[in-house]
Amino acid sequence: MKNILITGASTGIGAETARHLSKENRIFVHFFSSKEPAESVASDIEENGGRAVLIQADLSKEAGCRSLFESVAQHTDRLDVLINNAGGLIRRQAVREYEWSLMEEVFALNTFSAMLVTSLCMPLLDKGDDPCIINLTSIGMRHGGPTATIYAASKGALDSFTRGIAKELAPAIRVNAVAPGVILTPFHDKVTAPEKMEELRQITPLQRNGEAIHVARAIKFIIENDFVNGETIDINGGLFMR
Ligand SMILES: NC(=O)c1ccc[n+]([C@@H]2O[C@H](COP(=O)([O-])OP(=O)(O)OC[C@H]3O[C@@H](n4cnc5c(N)ncnc54)[C@H](OP(=O)(O)O)[C@@H]3O)[C@@H](O)[C@H]2O)c1
Repeated sequence: MKNILITGASTGIGAETARHLSKENRIFVHFFSSKEPAESVASDIEENGGRAVLIQADLSKEAGCRSLFESVAQHTDRLDVLINNAGGLIRRQAVREYEWSLMEEVFALNTFSAMLVTSLCMPLLDKGDDPCIINLTSIGMRHGGPTATIYAASKGALDSFTRGIAKELAPAIRVNAVAPGVILTPFHDKVTAPEKMEELRQITPLQRNGEAIHVARAIKFIIENDFVNGETIDINGGLFMR
């Protein structure tokens, strides 16, 4: 049985990943505002033969990151997998109009929270079985996206953080990232118009937008393959190729 902490596991990629990893594992299902969806994820985990622990916290604040860690530590002194998944674009803004408050909010949610939660969880990961950390970055950090560049930059920083600590923590702890392309989750509800989603579908070589399960499968692969380290796996139907 692995102890797996997934931040932002109430909806979208985090929720699907929690379900995908649930069998015979204990999943710490973190959520912020989506209590009922998180409860539904927890009951699916239990039905699949896993165990679920629900934890609420606002990770865009230092206090929230610390309270998440304290809640996890009340249940276990060992963490095998940390998945820093909570995140979001928050709001689009053109470069000519940047506001310090938005830059701070976006970086706090997408970058600082993952960095601080990782740092706090180190003593638990040190005791883990083939411990690993997986950060959710984004196709955005590959080539930006007009009016989404603050978000893209925050994910670029998270990607750099991934490689940096992959070296720093080796050989004891593996660290990788997954960079989703356009995935059909609540992420896009407020920030991507339906016409834009259709345009993105058309320019994707596979001619479709992805689903949360496509990302969940990549996360499971990283957990299971103990020679994958310092990597960012792009899951985007070929929308970005390197
Ligand atoms: N969907 C895509 O196309 C796409 C593409 C590239 C990267 N990503 C990345 O993939 C990750 C998962 O996104 P998703 O697509 O699954 O979107 P989502 O369904 O909107 O999930 C976002 C998760 O983050 C949590 N969250 C939001 N604000 C928070 C806060 N202040 N404190 C703590 N948790 C907070 C949400 O919790 P509550 O709902 O409980 O508030 C939710 O569980 C994100 O890091 C996102 O940037 C997504």
